[in-house]
Amino acid sequence: SVLVRSSSSAKQSLLRRNFSSSSVPERKVAILGAAGGIGQPLALLMKLNPLVSSLSLYDIANTPGVAADVGHINTRSHVVGYMGDENLAKALEGADLVIIPAGVPRKPGMTRDDLFNINAGIVKNLCSAIAKYCPHALVNMISNPVNSTVPIAAEIFKKAGMYDEKKLFGVTTLDVVRAKTFYAGKANVPVAEVNVPVIGGHAGVTILPLFSQATPQANLSSDVLTALTKRTQDGGTEVVEAKAGKGSATLSMAYAGALFADACLKGLNGVPDVVECSYVQSTITELPFFASKVRLGKNGVEEVLDLGPLSDFEKEGLEALKPELKSSIEKGVKFAHQ
Ligand code: NAD
Ligand code: LMR
Repeated sequence: SVLVRSSSSAKQSLLRRNFSSSSVPERKVAILGAAGGIGQPLALLMKLNPLVSSLSLYDIANTPGVAADVGHINTRSHVVGYMGDENLAKALEGADLVIIPAGVPRKPGMTRDDLFNINAGIVKNLCSAIAKYCPHALVNMISNPVNSTVPIAAEIFKKAGMYDEKKLFGVTTLDVVRAKTFYAGKANVPVAEVNVPVIGGHAGVTILPLFSQATPQANLSSDVLTALTKRTQDGGTEVVEAKAGKGSATLSMAYAGALFADACLKGLNGVPDVVECSYVQSTITELPFFASKVRLGKNGVEEVLDLGPLSDFEKEGLEALKPELKSSIEKGVKFAHQ
């Protein structure tokens, strides 16, 4: 009877294994910059995501502590911390999704572009390693200035001969999160039901929320819509000023980053109709990179969706953002070829 019991329990565990591997695929997620202000809460949120089977936490310092801490949480994923350049290959090998919040944040008085000199180099090195060690992974770029770091990544990947425009994403989800929060406050509608597309890029006027397409609809005056647009565009600065020298958004960004990563994983796993706004290679406008609604699928970007009807105010905003976005893209491309 002992034999019978053990063989039936072996069968059960085999069944369980088969069941779990066929219903929820194994997915390795790597976070680069995992010990930082965004990286730590993002590591926590990804540890809570049942779609993740392996969580790889990489930083130049402090990852052993973060990994030991997060690793004690009794959820599916196996957590490993990797510290220092010599361990970057192991951190990346086999990754399905790489999230990059590595780099310096703003202090009051700075623009995101003021971060370019430091962060461009960091992103360049990390993307060279991605090209080498996990060339098929989706990449979620959080490091600022996103308007330039995404084109840098694309050029580095092109140089390495593995660029797939469907797999590179600038994370603009925080702009959507903010637009939803601010809109719900003014429109007096339940925030959980709100949807607002945000297009363009991720800095100042290049952030263009389309409140004319917001749902549930509300009859807001043009003054209110102008104020909502400005608050969304200045959302990052609002946090930088409130933190008064201690950095920029980390907690709301971790939430937004986890939301977008979850959407990418769902897309990879074949869940239909996963649509999020993201800054991607695009032919929607004349600019080579542009944020808009994107349908996510098994290979990353499945479709870049049309902008839909814009109000006159939004049409003006779209034309006004193009010169800045264009020059940020060109700055990134130029840097990658230096
Ligand atoms: P932080 O300084 O708290 O953390 C950054 C982390 O990156 C640190 O732990 C640091 O050790 C690490 N790092 C530096 N160089 C590295 C390298 N070569 N490899 C791996 N890790 C490295 O900063 P933060 O508040 O977490 O912000 C990180 C970045 O995210 C900034 O550039 C910030 O502007 C950007 N950001 C973007 C958005 C967005 O919406 N896309 C929102 C908020 C912040
Ligand atoms: C944000 O929007 O909060 C981030 O891009 C960080 C910043 O510098 O504003």
